Amino acid sequence: MNNSLEAIKISDRVYWVGAIDNEIRDFHGYSTLRGTTYNAYLILGEKPILIDTVKAPFFSEMMARISSVIEPEKISYIISNHAEMDHSGSLLPTIEAIQPEKVFASKMGIAALKSHFHSQLDLTEIKNGGKFTLGDASFECIETRMLHWPDSMFTYFADDKILFSQDGFGMHLATDKMFADQNDKSILEHEAMKYFANILLPYTTFVTKLLTAFPSLNLDIKMLAPDHGPVWRTHEDISWIMTLWKKWAEQKPTEKVVVIYDTMWNSTAKMAKSIADGIMAENVTVKVMPLSVFHRSDVAAELLEAGALIMGSPTINNQMFPTVADALCYLKGLKPQNLIGQAFGSHGWSGEAVKLIQNDLETLKVKLVENPIKTNYVPDNNCLAECRKLGQSIARMLKNGH
Ligand code: FEO
Repeated sequence: MNNSLEAIKISDRVYWVGAIDNEIRDFHGYSTLRGTTYNAYLILGEKPILIDTVKAPFFSEMMARISSVIEPEKISYIISNHAEMDHSGSLLPTIEAIQPEKVFASKMGIAALKSHFHSQLDLTEIKNGGKFTLGDASFECIETRMLHWPDSMFTYFADDKILFSQDGFGMHLATDKMFADQNDKSILEHEAMKYFANILLPYTTFVTKLLTAFPSLNLDIKMLAPDHGPVWRTHEDISWIMTLWKKWAEQKPTEKVVVIYDTMWNSTAKMAKSIADGIMAENVTVKVMPLSVFHRSDVAAELLEAGALIMGSPTINNQMFPTVADALCYLKGLKPQNLIGQAFGSHGWSGEAVKLIQNDLETLKVKLVENPIKTNYVPDNNCLAECRKLGQSIARMLKNGH
């Protein structure tokens, strides 16, 4: 065990005992350029409690941090807020090491954990809205089904007024600064937005429902402790991240166009440039994202606050370019809403790509406006002027609230 690793005290009775992952760059298909943390929390008291664990390779890091505060065997209970492996991957070795009296999870959490580990796990259900005490610690459970898994739940620790929110209000950010207010706010906003776009977007109705119901729960939240990224500890920061979540869940269209494309011999790229030029001429924000450079998860993040999506691809062997298909497949899962858009592209002979993109945009419920633009081999000046006009026209529609 690495004895140089220590827990970080975050309140009177609570320590962060998680792990910092500086290496991860691909989180199940989401590019995590700033790494991440897997946050686990230790609550001290008559019956010490561990909230969540960490991804399997970080088990010894978590145990070292726990050991810097108490002997791990003194932990009486584990509460598993979320069954995904980045938080439950160390559950079995932790149970084996500390032999807790009980391990708690939501009803769906019990089912999910059993399906993960296929062992005789002895798990105890916590009911939604249930208040309960463990030793001298008081809790309340708030099930958050589909935020973002069926098993997900928040646990509120009433004594220190901390809401342990698993993935909720989290972000992928490996930082040595445990609290949000110690970090650069623009980085926090970017990473929180990217996290929301890539993890929560299909479940925005549940986000809105939860945030609407929140005041009626009457929870006095002094600290919001997610399972990834920094802990929110000021009233201002807690309200800031919740307000952002509320806004992102609404997905109101803005005056911003995202132009996504890939290219073989620069023809589709030229078309994208002219489309962008038309958008710029209308003083509307445009983000141009060649997929040779931009990752699908960055595309998702840019779309979160956009009003239009214009996608281009050359036709290659009767298909759209593979990177374009990849981005569309990913977006079809995330289901961004309230977008208008169109398709464009170049081809040598058959030219299926534009129609295929249009079909996928329709599946995505993107409202197709104006006409698609196809060009044979290399766009001439007429084609580029048409592209510019398409950009201008879509920009104007956004300005007029389409
Ligand atoms: Fe961080 Fe859904 O796991």
